[in-house]
Amino acid sequence: MEKPDPPVRHLLDIDSLAERDIESIIERTLDLADGAPPEQLDFTTANLFFEPSTRTRVSFELAASRLGMRVINIELERSSATKGESLEDTVATLAAMGVDCLVARHPETGRLHEMVNHPQPPVRLLNAGDGQGEHPSQALLDAATLVAGGIDWPAATIAIVGDVRHSRVARSDIKLFARLGAGCLRIAGPGEMLPDRLDNDRVEVCSTLEAAVRNADVIMMLRVQRERMDRAGWPDPDQYHHHWGLTEAHLGMARPGCHVMHPGPINRGMEIDAAVADGPRSLILEQVRMGVYARMAIFEWMLA
Ligand code: NCD
Repeated sequence: MEKPDPPVRHLLDIDSLAERDIESIIERTLDLADGAPPEQLDFTTANLFFEPSTRTRVSFELAASRLGMRVINIELERSSATKGESLEDTVATLAAMGVDCLVARHPETGRLHEMVNHPQPPVRLLNAGDGQGEHPSQALLDAATLVAGGIDWPAATIAIVGDVRHSRVARSDIKLFARLGAGCLRIAGPGEMLPDRLDNDRVEVCSTLEAAVRNADVIMMLRVQRERMDRAGWPDPDQYHHHWGLTEAHLGMARPGCHVMHPGPINRGMEIDAAVADGPRSLILEQVRMGVYARMAIFEWMLA
């Protein structure tokens, strides 16, 4: 009897990953970063970004090319989306041409989840950020960066600071770090930038930046997502920096050896001082570097 095809794997959010998926993706990310030979995958992936991106798109592209995959970048301004084609029809069209994976970023929360049950040849969907929803590959690369940096999850205090409300990175990070057993998860930011409800009852809300960073092992700073708020709600950059900008003085309140992270793009002088972003505690470029290995591990998990 023929074996049935294994179910098509997608990467849409953290909740739909099993423990063993999370473990194996992080472990493989670290192995690849240590120089393990990558699989060679005879597959085609397409990047379709309805929002701007530098690192995520390039990272998925580099990851795919290091695995020997064919990569197609769909330029939105020149695609049929400008002629009113629905996302469903675009995906079906790509699938008919033999595209195996679609890395997509969309401004609508949950838009990519809607695609999964749409009848079409099996295209694997990778969520590269959906509105204020999730950004699972970023969370996986953040976790891998912390593991490489020697994090002891149960002992770790992790502070996520800034525009938590609009951040899909924060949402995915909180879910993943909680599942990995983070001892203490804190969030902090101006009231209007905190979520209405917390998905996780273990998250502590701090009312000041100082309270959030005190004895922290990891401080993750977030950009203010102006594109997701009314102009009237945009904070004054100087005021914002005064209350919520991470400076070297704050690092003195955290645990010695504390790591500073940021998913990027950073706004220097707003949520973070240049001296901190470029300083010895910063893992920001290490996150970017690890991102390519994490995305290679994700493609292998999905396709190999
Ligand atoms: C983030 C995003 O797009 O969600 N960037 C990223 O992918 N590294 C964060 C942001 O835009 O501020």
